[in-house]
This record gives sequence, C-alpha cells and structure tokens, in this order.
Amino acid sequence: MSPLRIGVLISGSGSNLQALIDAIHKQEIHGEIVVVLSNKKEAYGLQRAKNHQISAEYVDSRVYQGDHYHERIMTILQEKQVDLVVLAGYLKMIHPDMIAAYPNGIINIHPSLIPSFCGKGYYGMKVHEEAIAYGVKVSGATVHFVDEKPDHGPVILQETVPVLWEDTPESLQEKVLKIEHQLLPQAVALFSQKRIEVVGRRVKIKEGS
Ligand code: GAR
Repeated sequence: MSPLRIGVLISGSGSNLQALIDAIHKQEIHGEIVVVLSNKKEAYGLQRAKNHQISAEYVDSRVYQGDHYHERIMTILQEKQVDLVVLAGYLKMIHPDMIAAYPNGIINIHPSLIPSFCGKGYYGMKVHEEAIAYGVKVSGATVHFVDEKPDHGPVILQETVPVLWEDTPESLQEKVLKIEHQLLPQAVALFSQKRIEVVGRRVKIKEGS
C-alpha cells in the first residue's frame, strides 16, 4: 500500500500536528504529511512543519476573500494529492464544497466528549471551563469525520479523562491534550490501514490484518 498523503490544517500551536509528525517518524502511521496550511500567520505549527522540512503555508483571508479562501485551500490540497485532511486545531468552518470533495476524508479533533461542550464557539479554554462549570465527572477527546455542522460528523474514537474537584480549566486542558496526542495519531493510523467503516452516523473499526 502506498503511504497515505496527509494534509494538516491548523490555527495555533500545532501540538497535535507534532504528535502526527512523531507517530510517522516512529512508523506508527504509514503516511506522509505533504502539506500544512494555517489561517493564522503566527501559528507555531507552521514552524513545527518547517522544522521537519514539511511544506507549510499561511493562507491569508485578506488575499483570498470569501469563496476564494476554500478554493485556494482545495487547490493546494489537490496539487499535493492529499488523501486525508486532518483538522488539528483548525478553527475555521470547512466549506461544503470541500466536504463534498473529501467524503469521509476530513477528520477533526475536539477536546471534549462530543456531543457535549462542542459546536459553534467551543474552542480553547471555553470547552474546559464549561465542562467544569457543568460538573461533569469525565471529559475527554473526540476524533470524528467532518460534515456540514461544527463538531458533528461520525465519531471515530473517543477517550475519557476524569474531572477532579481540584481541576482548573488549565489542568483539564492539559490532561485532555495528552489524550489528544494519542487519539489523533491512532485515528490516522486506522484510516491509513483502511480499517474505518462508516455506517450512517456510526463508525465500525475493522480488525487489523
Ligand atoms: C486542541 O485542543 C484541539 O482539540 C482544539 O484546538 C486545540 C489545538 O491545539 N480544537 C478545537 O477546539 C476544534 N473545535 P494544538 O494547536 O496544540 O494542536
């Protein structure tokens, strides 16, 4: 099987991107990150990509306005012959045209147990503040396919962390991020092994050979 060609979209630190880079180096994923794109110029993830000689580009929404933005992103992904798009802390909505171009080919990581604490506006510390304020005893991370609604498509993997009385939004974020760094590479590895089957909203993980 030829290595999976992965395109990663980011908006920030890119610690999940780093987890993917590390997993590929450890040969836990039979794939290659062929491009990293960011909607934020200052995203540290762009530097992480460059540190590993991965092609990385800031796509400026002042240059590519309106529909030109997703068209530009799609052009780059197509030029790079990307098989799987990974949203690793990418905080911009994905245009329906792009979802149509990659059916069950775009995955996102979210720092809560979807369908809790997710959807429009749920990113950064807000997710963890709300989980603590609600009083849930577990939170966690979710990797899911992307559809037209934010944080909504079929769930691929989820993992929990306990929410303790002593937790602050910062400490919960740290615990969840640790889980994210395992879960995202695991999901990409399953994808590269063609072990993910989507049946309606449900995802079946097929046995490995
Ligand atoms: C991660 O916690 C990711 O789950 C979250 O942004 C952070 C990015 O961190 N994504 C969302 O909230 C999407 N709704 P990173 O840049 O260090 O990978």
